[in-house]
This record gives sequence, structure tokens and C-alpha cells, in this order.
Amino acid sequence: MTKPNIFVTRRIPEAVLKPLIEECNVEIWPEQTPPPYEVLLEKVRGRDGIITLLTDRVDARLMDAAGPQLRAISQYAVGVDNIDLAAATERCITVGHTPGVLTETTADLAFALLMAAARRLVEGADYVRQGQWVTWGPLLLLGHDVHGATLGIVGMGRIGRAVARRASGFDMQVLYYDRVSVDPELVGPNVEQVDLDTLLRESDFVSIHVPLTPETHHIIDADALARMKPTAILINAARGPVVDTNALYHALKEGKIAYAALDVTDPEPLPADHPLLSLPNVIVVPHIGSASVATRTRMGEMAVANLLAALAGERPPNPANPEVFERECRR
Ligand code: DGY
Repeated sequence: MTKPNIFVTRRIPEAVLKPLIEECNVEIWPEQTPPPYEVLLEKVRGRDGIITLLTDRVDARLMDAAGPQLRAISQYAVGVDNIDLAAATERCITVGHTPGVLTETTADLAFALLMAAARRLVEGADYVRQGQWVTWGPLLLLGHDVHGATLGIVGMGRIGRAVARRASGFDMQVLYYDRVSVDPELVGPNVEQVDLDTLLRESDFVSIHVPLTPETHHIIDADALARMKPTAILINAARGPVVDTNALYHALKEGKIAYAALDVTDPEPLPADHPLLSLPNVIVVPHIGSASVATRTRMGEMAVANLLAALAGERPPNPANPEVFERECRR
């Protein structure tokens, strides 16, 4: 029996690829940067399965370039906003992703950003490195208390709830905005569901945890930023385009909000000469929410398990387009 033909769009933790390499012919893109779209169109030709990253545009054209034998796309991420799921379903291609496994790690990072912005840690570290520390100062690098403050969580899915649990350890009051209500048992005390306007008006910290969809694109725009407190701190560890970058730049520059701490940006990567990086009240880190050794390894294991199941014509443990199983597909 011929082995399935697989393309992996970037190097992922090596150990997890073992079962894949045993069962399939695998080619791995060796570079640190993603394959350009036109190159990817070539690389996927004739493949039965692809392991993709959030940096790959996976659209109908790419699926058609691969050919009708393509039956599995396995995303090494929970977010699948780079994949045209409807196009995959239409073509009977199963898409897998990695939910759950990165929840706590991403919540850790979101909370680290919150703390770092509140207490101006990056500015403080730069101050010491630059040799500016000459004495203890009563007015030196004054920040904002985290304990007892109000945290507004936009999107109370798995990661939002994990951030809420961390906040309860800091005696924070948590407000959340979501289309659905969350079981209070899952989020702990001092948690209240409110509308977006109330959340923006009353929160000291606003942390975003929604997926990127047409509805959430620019949910934090100039109008939303204008409704926040001038002392408020915005945290984004979800997807860059959920925030209007230009509006954020102006809000920070004009003191409409106090600070932003971002794991994700629009554009991504953010060029070093981007105006946002000229501001002192911004922390940007390079989309490292899930970047712990353990979590990136587990994500890889899940991506491989999803791919192997889909190649075998089975329902993968974590399908991103479960509708595909309602279609009449020859698997
Ligand atoms: C995801 O999984 O969607 C994150 O953004 C990267 O781990």
C-alpha cells in the first residue's frame, strides 16, 4: 500500500512527528519563515494531508492546487481564521485543530502581560539596563494595582475563563462580555456578565479572548477605545485584527487609554519601525501565547493525531469542521 503524502509547512517539535514519519512520506518546510503562498501552492500539489500553521493562507485555491486526493488539513493551532473551513467542507476535506491544550499556557501569558503593563516591568528593566537607576525614587515608575482592580474579559471561552480564574487569585472583580452565559462554577466568584459598553466603561483592564471572525474584526475600534477609562490597560492575546491598530495608536498617544500589552498585532509581524513601537506605553511580544515547551509539544501530538485519523477516514479527536461528517463524502 502506498504511504500517504504529507507536507508540513514548518518545523514543529521533532519527537511528535515520529508516528507520522513512520506511516507517511513527509516533507517538512525547513525555513524559519513560512513558505510564500505561491510556493505553498506548488508544495501541496499531490498531497493527501497538510499540517498548517496560522501563518499559512489555506484557501479554496490552495485546496484545488493540492488536488482531489487532499483529505486532511491539520492546523497546529486552535485558531483557524487562516483556513477557509467552508471551502474545505465543500471539498470533503477534514480540518483538525488543537483546542484546550494551550488554554492555561495562553492564559498565563495574558496574565503576565497584564501584570507587566500594570507595573511597567519592561520600562523598569530597560531603565536599569540603560544605567538610569541612581536611587530609590518616591515617584519612580508608578504603575497600577492589579489586586482589587476590575478586569473586563471580552470572550469568555476556555482562555477567557482561565484568565478569570487567575484574576480571582488577585481579588479582582471580573466583568465579561460574551454572547452566551458561562456556568458560574467554571469561573469562580466576583464574575458578572455585562454588555460591552459597561465592560469598557467600568474595567481597569480589558483582556481580549475572542476568535477572529467577521463579527469580532475591529470589535475594539476608536469608538470602543474612547469608552474606556483613561487609566485603562488593554491586553490582546487573541488575534491582532480584533483591535483597530491605527485607532489604538491614537488612543495611546492621546492618553485615551493608559497602556496596551499585545501578544498579537495587525499586521503581524509588526515591523520594528511601526508607529506603535515608538510609544512608551506599549508592550508587544511576538505571538508567544502558547509558547511553552510542554504545550507546543502537546499541540504537535494533537496535530499529528488529527491528521492520522483524518487520513484513515475517521473523525479526528478535534475536528474544526465537524459539518464535513454530515456530508456524503467518500472517505
Ligand atoms: C493558536 O493556537 O491559535 C495560537 O494563536 C497559537 O498557538
